[in-house]
Amino acid sequence: MKYAIANWKMNLTAKEGLRLAQVIKSGTTSVPGTKVILCPPFIALDVLASLFEVSEIELGAQNMHYETEGAYTGEISPLMLKDYASYVILGHSERRTYFHETNDIVNRKIRAAITNGLKPILCVGENYETYKAKETFTFLDKQLKESLAGIDPASLNKLIIAYEPIWAIGSGETPDKNEIENVAKFIEVTLEKHFETDTVKQIPLLYGGSVTAFNVLDFVSLPHISGVLVGGASLQGEEFTQIISRIQSLT
Ligand code: PGA
Repeated sequence: MKYAIANWKMNLTAKEGLRLAQVIKSGTTSVPGTKVILCPPFIALDVLASLFEVSEIELGAQNMHYETEGAYTGEISPLMLKDYASYVILGHSERRTYFHETNDIVNRKIRAAITNGLKPILCVGENYETYKAKETFTFLDKQLKESLAGIDPASLNKLIIAYEPIWAIGSGETPDKNEIENVAKFIEVTLEKHFETDTVKQIPLLYGGSVTAFNVLDFVSLPHISGVLVGGASLQGEEFTQIISRIQSLT
């Protein structure tokens, strides 16, 4: 399965989101072996869920709380989300940086997502200093182990992992293809050791960070990469539908 996942971040009103989703819907034919998932802001989930009711396009949220209900002003729970979305992005570097989410918090969220029937899209990735110091593997090892601590190996088939180097997000820069492939292999080996099962090989590993219609095939054609998580370029209907059709051309 190949994935094209759109992360709209904090962009577009619900009306604007609906218009963009309509463009994506009309420009996309469903192709077996490819999955398109849109992750709009919370307030657009309802209207998009109606739009995609009889469509192959699926929805995800960009964050959630780990409790199902309670006195957490401003938060959204997995129970509330699952009426609209099947997926949830967790541990995005913007959440970690601006909202101080630690691996422990991300871990609680991942467990809560799985318990409540949502599929987590776990984001991991190093900053530029770590990359330059060639400490990416050490950093990812800790991030993966802590974020996935205590997860039942039988639940791993619910998980998607996106490798998003922080320095590549929104910057127009990307690692080279070999670096991405090596990181994906490293993630697989790390998880295999950690969970002591080779079912980890079935976890889709995505790349994210400055993906465009122009470069998407560089990433998706890598043996260990099963798709992309797209920010900026997913806000342009035509560009995102091109990304989707390029991915579909590989299947
Ligand atoms: P970008 O964002 O495609 O704009 O670099 C990717 C992401 O943050 O998920």
